[in-house]
Amino acid sequence: MKSIAIIYHSRQGHTQFIAQQIQLGAAQVEQLKIDLFTAEQLMSQPELLCHYDGLIWGSPTYLGGVSGTLKQLMDATGPLWKKQAFKGKLAAGFTVSSLPAGDKQSTLISLFTFAMQHGMIWVGNPILPEQHQGVPYTQAANRLGSWSGLMAQVEHASAANAFDFGDIKTAQLFGQNFALSLSAYQGVMIT
Ligand SMILES: Cc1cc2nc3c(=O)[nH]c(=O)nc-3n(C[C@H](O)[C@H](O)[C@H](O)COP(=O)(O)O)c2cc1C
Repeated sequence: MKSIAIIYHSRQGHTQFIAQQIQLGAAQVEQLKIDLFTAEQLMSQPELLCHYDGLIWGSPTYLGGVSGTLKQLMDATGPLWKKQAFKGKLAAGFTVSSLPAGDKQSTLISLFTFAMQHGMIWVGNPILPEQHQGVPYTQAANRLGSWSGLMAQVEHASAANAFDFGDIKTAQLFGQNFALSLSAYQGVMIT
C-alpha cells in the first residue's frame, strides 16, 4: 500500500485544520495510508519520513516565508539530503496566511526548492478558479489562484470557523489530486 505523510507546523491551529482537510481529500482515493505529523513530532526523527511515498509540507506564512519551526525541521533533514533519501518521492506544499496575498508565494517557493534539493517530484494544484464559472468567490475552489501549491487565507477566528468554504474545498481537492497522482506514479529510475 502506498503512503502519504502530511507534515506541518501550526501554532494557532489554522494550518493544522487545512492539513486535516488535505487528509480528508486524499482519503477519497482507496488503498492509501495517510498520516499527519507536526514538525515538532519529527524534529528528532525526520528519518521516519523515509517510509512514505509522498510528502506534503505545510507551514503558516511568517514574514513572507516558512515558520522557524518548519524550517528547523527542513534543516534537520540535512543528513537525509546527503543520502538523497527522499529522491523520487512525490512532494507538494501548502501555506496559510491572514492576508489575501501576504507573500504566501515565497513560502511555497521555499518548500518547492527544498523538495527539489531532495530530488523529489513536485505536484502542484491543478484546479481552475471556480469563480470564473460563476461560483461565488468565497465558495470557489482555488479562489486565490495558486497552482504551484495550495494557498488558504484565514481571518482571525478559531480555525474551524476561519476559512471560507472555497479554501476548504480547495484543500480537499488538492489532497485528492496528490493521492491520485501518487496512485498512478510508477517511480523514477534512481541511480
Ligand atoms: C510571526 C508572524 C508572521 C506572520 N507573517 C505573515 C505574513 O507575512 N503574511 C500574512 O499574510 N500573514 C502573516 N502572519 C499570519 C499567519 O500566517 C496566520 O495567522 C496563520 O493562520 C497562522 O497559522 P497557524 O494558525 O497554523 O499558526 C504572520 C503571523 C505571525 C505570528
